[in-house]
Amino acid sequence: MSRVGRGRAGTVAILAGVGVCLAAGGGPRTARAAGPRAPVWYGAEGEALPFQDAADIEDFLRAAAVVSVKELSVGITGPKKLLLERDGVHAHAVFKDVDKVSRGKTDLDGYVIIDLKDSHLFDCAAYQLDRLLGLGRVPPAVPRDLDGRSGTVSLWIEHAMTEKDRRDRGLEPPDPARWEQQKQIMYVFDNLIGNTDRNLGNILIDRSWRLWLIDHTRAFVTSRALPDPGRITRCERNLYASLEGLDEAEVTSALSPYLNRREIRALLARRDAIVKRLDKEIAARGADAVLYDLAPSGPERDHD
Ligand SMILES: Nc1ncnc2c1ncn2[C@@H]1O[C@H](COP(=O)(O)OP(=O)(O)O)[C@@H](O)[C@H]1O
Ligand SMILES: [Mg+2]
Repeated sequence: MSRVGRGRAGTVAILAGVGVCLAAGGGPRTARAAGPRAPVWYGAEGEALPFQDAADIEDFLRAAAVVSVKELSVGITGPKKLLLERDGVHAHAVFKDVDKVSRGKTDLDGYVIIDLKDSHLFDCAAYQLDRLLGLGRVPPAVPRDLDGRSGTVSLWIEHAMTEKDRRDRGLEPPDPARWEQQKQIMYVFDNLIGNTDRNLGNILIDRSWRLWLIDHTRAFVTSRALPDPGRITRCERNLYASLEGLDEAEVTSALSPYLNRREIRALLARRDAIVKRLDKEIAARGADAVLYDLAPSGPERDHD
């Protein structure tokens, strides 16, 4: 598996400086977008969805009619691409129903996990955590049954290429500094959720070169150790504040539908370890060398 070197009516969502969670109203207190602009959600025809707040999108994912189902990869347990429709609004989505446990030890490049779980519900957990942190980098995801199977439906990110596509096509980011800053956000997030599955197909890049994080079904391990702590050298300022402020009750309330107590405790322990690591860096090098403000994104442009 390849690894990374080793994230009309939509006015509310484009308010400068306001995170997707704040735009959602009733979002978590700690939520602030790690970036100057919240993402806009797009429908199947490439238009901005006529609703942009989290509750409305989640409701659409839960209730819209399934117009078509297409296999994304071979094998019956592979993800499926859906076309959803409600009140004339069309949007693509992904359905996953993977739910298994590899008993015993699994060695992931030296990060040893006991009873590694692969669960579609972790895509819901990653999205809820993204909201708590105010990141806006994990597509909205909700539990939903399809043809009698329990699974998770996530919104499709339109006009995106994978990091693998980018490399294959030799495309360079228009703003390398912002690109690096976004990757730092990804490294912090992956250490937080205990994710060792960030292969090149699990990173999407949209038309504004915003980095999106997908496929978290193997994350949320019960190890309290950080999977790749050496990658954490800097941190986006709002993300650092959100991590520091992440409250146990809030995490439990948002994630307990998807994570058990051990998984939540391990997540909070990894959060403590990340903040401790960053605080050590700040003490050694100064806050301005460690914390940064994400550079603004450029204009939207098709990749081809
Ligand atoms: N929400 C999404 N938006 C856009 N493309 C997606 C989305 N989810 C998955 N894909 C595409 O489908 C591929 C496979 O999905 P992924 O979630 O990585 O499942 P798996 O790796 O288990 O097959 C991704 O590499 C990406 O190209
Ligand atoms: Mg994948």
